[in-house]
Amino acid sequence: MTPSVQLSIVVPTFNEAANLSVLVERIGVAMGDVNWEVIFVDDDSPDGTAAEARRLGRENGRVRCLQRIDRRGLSSACIEGMLASSAPCIAVMDADLQHDERLLPTMYDTLTNEDLDVVVGSRHVAGGDAEAFSDDRARKSELATRLSRMVVPEELLDPMSGFFMIRREAFEACMRNLSGIGFKILMDLFASAPQPLRFRELPYSFGERHAGESKLDNQAIWDYGMLLLDKLVGRWVPVRFVAFIAVGGIGVFVHMAMLAGLYQALDYGFVTAQVWATLVAMTVNFVINNLITYRDLQLKGWDWLKGWISFVLACSVGAVANVGVAGYLFAGDTGWFLAGLAGIVVGAVWNYAITQLYTWRAAS
Ligand code: GDD
Ligand code: MN
Repeated sequence: MTPSVQLSIVVPTFNEAANLSVLVERIGVAMGDVNWEVIFVDDDSPDGTAAEARRLGRENGRVRCLQRIDRRGLSSACIEGMLASSAPCIAVMDADLQHDERLLPTMYDTLTNEDLDVVVGSRHVAGGDAEAFSDDRARKSELATRLSRMVVPEELLDPMSGFFMIRREAFEACMRNLSGIGFKILMDLFASAPQPLRFRELPYSFGERHAGESKLDNQAIWDYGMLLLDKLVGRWVPVRFVAFIAVGGIGVFVHMAMLAGLYQALDYGFVTAQVWATLVAMTVNFVINNLITYRDLQLKGWDWLKGWISFVLACSVGAVANVGVAGYLFAGDTGWFLAGLAGIVVGAVWNYAITQLYTWRAAS
């Protein structure tokens, strides 16, 4: 019988082809006699990362690849990688060699010998640092850490770390509560645990990226806000709905600006102007929702066009429902304000539910 894997190292990847072989080699050197495997979780990177991972897998049975199609997201990639592991201990680390693989054996010994759920590679305990960070990035990281205090324990000094090791039982206890939004999987785990996680932080120095470039962009900042929001209110309201409503608010501005331009400035008839304003506002809403609210399921090419058509159709029915409900209530004894508001709520919920089902086909 081949010995069972003691440690799965989950590595999310997006355009990291040039880093994989170096990473695998370095992990091999670092791990000594621990029986490890690495699971690359790749979101169909255009640079052929998944093919490179499989090539390495043919050379070395310790290397596996989980390729996801039409998906994006660091946290959700980590979660699916962890779910694909059978090992008693699971590590998560980046592919770009910024996380020091030489810490892995110490993390493993600490996790298996002490009464702990998680060992965190930390930049913020004595001996750790993040000198590779620019001032701007360091400030953002600090602010994010401060905000995270609403949902994770204060004693955890580096909740933003993407380098950690967790026991299978601890992961399994959290897995159904995870949000899986954005970049910050460690914070998600801590905030999702039914019992406080027993942890220890070990210092390491966050290095320079090897090849390729960082994927942390403005979208990641937005996603971070959504993760926080999900942890705070997600039990009661889906955060996608919150984002959808915020985008709808932008649509109202676009609508009114168009209407003013066409009706007032350009002398269009009111109904014609209103029709154009509606169509433009719907399109702007569709574009922003596709870019932000549903970035992980983003539609492109022909799917974009089909998505736009279904979005416009759904929202048109939503508008009819809105007017119908408001009219019905108004004809009863409800005042204009409440009747109007009820119409908006019904229309918004309808638009959200139907476009989620038919335009983006989201699971939840
Ligand atoms: N599968 C998948 N899908 N992987 C992704 C995606 C994605 O959408 N986006 C990024 N990755 C992978 C990258 O390929 C890399 O291996 C890892 O996730 C981290 O991404 P980077 O773009 O290198 O992030 P960073 O260096 O700015 O940030 C890192 O440092 C932070 C510092 O604490 C990440 O490790 C964060 O998790 C960490 O918090
Ligand atoms: Mn990086």
